[in-house]
Amino acid sequence: MIDAALRDRAGRHVTLRPVDDGNWRAVADVAPRDDQRVWVAALAARYLLLSMRSDVWTSLAVYADEAVVGHVMWGVDDDGSRWIGGMVIDAAEQDRGVGRAAVRTLAEWLGGQDGGCPVRLSYHPANVSAARLYTSIGFVPTGAREDDELVAELRTGS
Ligand SMILES: CC(C)(COP(=O)(O)OP(=O)(O)OC[C@H]1O[C@@H](n2cnc3c(N)ncnc32)[C@H](O)[C@@H]1OP(=O)(O)O)[C@@H](O)C(=O)NCCC(=O)NCCS
Repeated sequence: MIDAALRDRAGRHVTLRPVDDGNWRAVADVAPRDDQRVWVAALAARYLLLSMRSDVWTSLAVYADEAVVGHVMWGVDDDGSRWIGGMVIDAAEQDRGVGRAAVRTLAEWLGGQDGGCPVRLSYHPANVSAARLYTSIGFVPTGAREDDELVAELRTGS
């Protein structure tokens, strides 16, 4: 379990846990709002399969107390930088502070690996919710692009 002792706005304890025999169905069913499907897959099941089929990504279940409310995954690039991807909070659970707590928890954990690693992610510039969330946490665009998405890196102490 990855736990930075953060809570959502309702006071629920947000943690990141491995996907296992007990929770994978609930994680697979995590779905964004219909209008958000332009940015992410229609179901987190897509990201679970990607994690299973690649050596790069590891999926995690986002929990609020004991409920599965989202999916996120992380990976290590060739240069040692850590990446966050597949961030989806279930439509019914959005705007409650879960996404902020989940990204902060994962970024802190990844950034502390190997004595301190760059932590990066990418987002489409028109994805306003994601852009606001990431920049408010301290991710700053590097100027690089991944396909049509902006690459951003966490600047600690900013
Ligand atoms: C982006 C996403 C993960 C945010 O999760 P969330 O739990 O709804 O976010 P939070 O409630 O923690 O809000 C965090 C911040 O996100 C931003 N945000 C969230 N919803 C927003 C909205 N509808 N419009 C604008 N900004 C929004 C705000 O900056 C908010 O700050 P606040 O806490 O001061 O209000 C969620 O909207 C989602 O799953 N979207 C679909 C998938 C997606 O786009 N993933 C990112 C791919 S790069």
